[in-house]
Amino acid sequence: MSYLETTAEFYTEAATKPQVGLCCISTPPLQYPDLKIPEIMQQMNYGCGTTIHPTELRNNPTVLYIGVGGGLEALQFAYFCRRQRSIIAVDPVAAMREAADQNLKLAAKENAWFDRNFVEILEGDAFNLPVADASVDVVAQNCLFNIFEPQDLTRALKEVYRVLKPKGRLIMSDPIATRPIPANLQADERLRAMCLSGAMTYADYIQHLIDVGFGQIEVRARRPYRLLDTHSFELETPLLLESLDTVSFKVPIPNDGACVFTGKTAIYSGIEEYLDDHAGHNLQRGNPLSVCDKTAAKLAHKFPQEVIVTDSNWHYNGGGCC
Ligand SMILES: C[S@@+](CC[C@H](N)C(=O)[O-])C[C@H]1O[C@@H](n2cnc3c(N)ncnc32)[C@H](O)[C@@H]1O
Repeated sequence: MSYLETTAEFYTEAATKPQVGLCCISTPPLQYPDLKIPEIMQQMNYGCGTTIHPTELRNNPTVLYIGVGGGLEALQFAYFCRRQRSIIAVDPVAAMREAADQNLKLAAKENAWFDRNFVEILEGDAFNLPVADASVDVVAQNCLFNIFEPQDLTRALKEVYRVLKPKGRLIMSDPIATRPIPANLQADERLRAMCLSGAMTYADYIQHLIDVGFGQIEVRARRPYRLLDTHSFELETPLLLESLDTVSFKVPIPNDGACVFTGKTAIYSGIEEYLDDHAGHNLQRGNPLSVCDKTAAKLAHKFPQEVIVTDSNWHYNGGGCC
């Protein structure tokens, strides 16, 4: 059996018998006014962070959701995209598609605003998405791509890039590892399926996105997720996993490299009213400007006395340079 088959088998079990906190932390799901999340959907919350960022859902987008799970995030997306088939949810595991369908039917009973037909559930997988080229505005996945081995992650990301419209966005939430996970743990297919041993480091994860052509990547959250302890995982020192929420845009990569926003700001502290770096950035004295990591490094290098660059706070929500 390949690790992908092990994963499918694993999620067949998780579909038929909900397992609270199975692969990820069991934080309460995001709540919105008039949104009632059925209990069973909460029990089947198999994601780590969130892919729901309302500011990315303007203009009634079509959303392709990969790996539907119990349907929780499909329902949350539908809250913002209230039209027939605005959410296309794809999953290769028949039992999971069936569970999501049942859970969404239940949600329709509990939520007057929700029509079950807002979400279409299709058979398919991350490597072969059942939609046309450049046909969706948003692709989202939560806690699936971290399971993939590096070459499969590249395949999945290329497939996402194919189906996104120009300027479309990929919203992801995945565990990342604070140092490379030892090969023996990575080779454990069940741990991998549980989102515990396939995670890459932050740098590798971001580089995979850039390598397939995403020109702008924004980090929305980064926080502790699980600790692989020395006793249970036969490690010499504990290994912290974090969860990382990102939004990546299908825009061309600038000549000087992709823009990765991690919440840094640049602040001009000189004597003029503002500083023009002659590269498209105007910094008003004393007023923090959100900058991507590339611009942050350039400004710090070019104006070491006059510009203060603040650290990544791992929460960037738009409005910056580039
Ligand atoms: C960790 S669960 C996450 C479920 C959901 N995103 C959530 O946040 O609750 C992974 C999901 O991906 C599905 N899956 C497994 N292999 C897949 C593949 N190759 N392509 C797409 N989905 C897959 C599983 O059936 C399961 O629904």
